[in-house]
Amino acid sequence: MAVKLEIQDLIHVFNKQEVLHGLNFTVNDGEFLSILGPSGCGKTTILRILIGLLAPSSGRVIKDGVDITGLSASKRHMGIVFQNYALFQNMTVLGNVEYALKINRETRPRARESAGAVIEQVGLSEHITKKPYKLSGGQQQRVAIARTLAMNPEIILFDEPMSALDAATRLSLRDELKRIQQKFNSTMIYITHDQEEAFALSDRIMVMNQGSIQQQDTPENIIANPATPFVREFVIDNLQRKVASLSKYIKGAS
Ligand SMILES: Nc1ncnc2c1ncn2[C@@H]1O[C@H](COP(=O)(O)OP(=O)(O)OP(=O)(O)O)[C@@H](O)[C@H]1O
Ligand SMILES: [Mg+2]
Repeated sequence: MAVKLEIQDLIHVFNKQEVLHGLNFTVNDGEFLSILGPSGCGKTTILRILIGLLAPSSGRVIKDGVDITGLSASKRHMGIVFQNYALFQNMTVLGNVEYALKINRETRPRARESAGAVIEQVGLSEHITKKPYKLSGGQQQRVAIARTLAMNPEIILFDEPMSALDAATRLSLRDELKRIQQKFNSTMIYITHDQEEAFALSDRIMVMNQGSIQQQDTPENIIANPATPFVREFVIDNLQRKVASLSKYIKGAS
């Protein structure tokens, strides 16, 4: 499998405090990788460095074999979806999705057509002329996903995109996201502190704690062979607690 991104010896220091302690990891082409870890462990900092919004204190980001550590965000062909959608409230769904396409000279001629196509892909065609405030949270997040997909990025980064949504919406959006990833075959890096979400979505999961990588492996291997006590507690014990707390409601389960 081809390596899409390689991160080498990544260190980041904020105000004399080191928050990323020399990370090394890879992301494969077409892979869905989750970065899973508790609040404050450095997930968003990694994402900001990958997309080019923050220069690391040291280390390298390699994409397709090329060092892009110093490249501006606009030249990286990466898209990002945030927790709070960040939609233009005065524009319709179509307006939001075609906005960036209209700015770029290459995509401008077919902006409306391309925007319409991705809006259909995420199941929002019937809402295309609505403004965001008339949509549910889950629908707004689908607009944000459509807007990112429309730019045809090589890599899409998600920073806790479901954390503002209710449980049922999260489940349906999760299925939708998996379907979109299979359809577009894009490389996705998904940040979450939700174990269940990471396990449901990912080809591989990178478990982090306090600025260090604890384990990067498939969900199956993490369950079978947790690399550290932290992985056992934060990932496996938490998942088991969830299953146990639900099983009493399910007939026949003990
Ligand atoms: N701009 C900043 N200036 C100073 N310290 C920062 C800054 N951004 C983040 N930090 C610190 O760096 C560490 C990692 O923060 P980061 O936002 O990457 O964590 P996170 O894993 O995304 O957490 P959460 O799950 O709460 O979003 C934290 O200790 C945080 O306080
Ligand atoms: Mg964060």
